[in-house]
Amino acid sequence: MNFAVLVSGNGSNLQAIIEAEKAKRINAKLVLVVSDRQEAYALVRARNAGIPEVFINPKDFPDRASFDKAVLAKLKESSVDFVVLAGFMRILTTAFIEAFPNKIINIHPSLLPAFKGAHAIKDAFHYGVKVTGVTVHLVDEKVDNGEIIAQEAVGILPEDTLQTLETKIHAVEHKLYPEIISLFAQGKLKIGRRHERP
Ligand code: GRF
Repeated sequence: MNFAVLVSGNGSNLQAIIEAEKAKRINAKLVLVVSDRQEAYALVRARNAGIPEVFINPKDFPDRASFDKAVLAKLKESSVDFVVLAGFMRILTTAFIEAFPNKIINIHPSLLPAFKGAHAIKDAFHYGVKVTGVTVHLVDEKVDNGEIIAQEAVGILPEDTLQTLETKIHAVEHKLYPEIISLFAQGKLKIGRRHERP
């Protein structure tokens, strides 16, 4: 199975994935890294690891649909079987999601559905919850909404600061995501179990 990672920023999750793949802890091949931001450090990480990377500039396209089409074309060129989002800061269009049905996953730094959005760690910390964590989920058209695949809790202790909490959450992300990607690639996860309430 071939997969691509879509990024926008630092790429610490990408780094964890690269290292896990090298150590043969991921039973699939990372064939392409796509960024929507030229300055994303994730692109440097991919380059350093010898993984093909491409920056696709959203400003070159009139709308989201045509940007997504350009990304899709790159993924098809690289024979990608599934897509991993790792700090990718864009909402995908329906056409993109339909091109990879149940084959796009994302990681989010909270126990969804709590604390959706771009500031989940900070929001959980300031809310004062005692437990937060990490969620890996399928991607749909809504933000941080798709079916949950895996979750791991992280306790917030009285002595935690926002910084120590961030460190703990990222450490869990970097362990959990490669594990789940590997299981996902091998078809070992049960998907399609979310039921609508009557
Ligand atoms: C991670 O916390 C991830 O959960 C969220 O965005 C952050 C990306 O960090 N979706 P990095 O770019 O992998 O370092």
